[in-house]
Amino acid sequence: MHRTLKKLYRDHAHISRLMDALELQLNKIKQTDQPSFPLISEIIGYLGDYADTFHHPIEDQLYQIMLAHSDLGREHMEKLLGEHMITMNLTREFKRALEALSKNSVISRDRVAKLGWEYVEHQRTHMAFEEGEAFPFLRKELSDEAFDVAAGAIPAIEDPLLDPNMTSRYPLLFEYLAQEKNSS
Ligand SMILES: [Fe+2]
Ligand SMILES: [Fe+2]
Repeated sequence: MHRTLKKLYRDHAHISRLMDALELQLNKIKQTDQPSFPLISEIIGYLGDYADTFHHPIEDQLYQIMLAHSDLGREHMEKLLGEHMITMNLTREFKRALEALSKNSVISRDRVAKLGWEYVEHQRTHMAFEEGEAFPFLRKELSDEAFDVAAGAIPAIEDPLLDPNMTSRYPLLFEYLAQEKNSS
């Protein structure tokens, strides 16, 4: 498997763990327990800074290359490109809601929770489709050169969750993942 596709799968594994973490916090809102809004903000910050900025753009490149190369799978590629736009909007909307909540602006916890659940649902469905349909399809249809071109079009940055220098940027997230690892 091309290293770029491997990286996309690895990103998904991390995003999926973050969705579990987010779900846990959202359940606390439902149970009128005290969730960690700062942790939720770090999760959404990471998704905006890394997933929306580097992960999805590499996929976009691959989907575009596939569209230029063949009509095969056109519907799926276009659907996924559209979903990336929706994801970016959801990230922005959720981020704004969290900022409003932290400033005690007029926004309810229920509204924040609703946006959060929408986010989790969208992200999980999207990744399941990519892993179940799109990635195996790209692997079959595209050459290694096509994967190189897609990866080369986007700055090659490491996943911040694998970079120890990023702990100060996402302190609660690193702490949460370390605890989760110890308890598993
Ligand atoms: Fe995607
Ligand atoms: Fe993805």
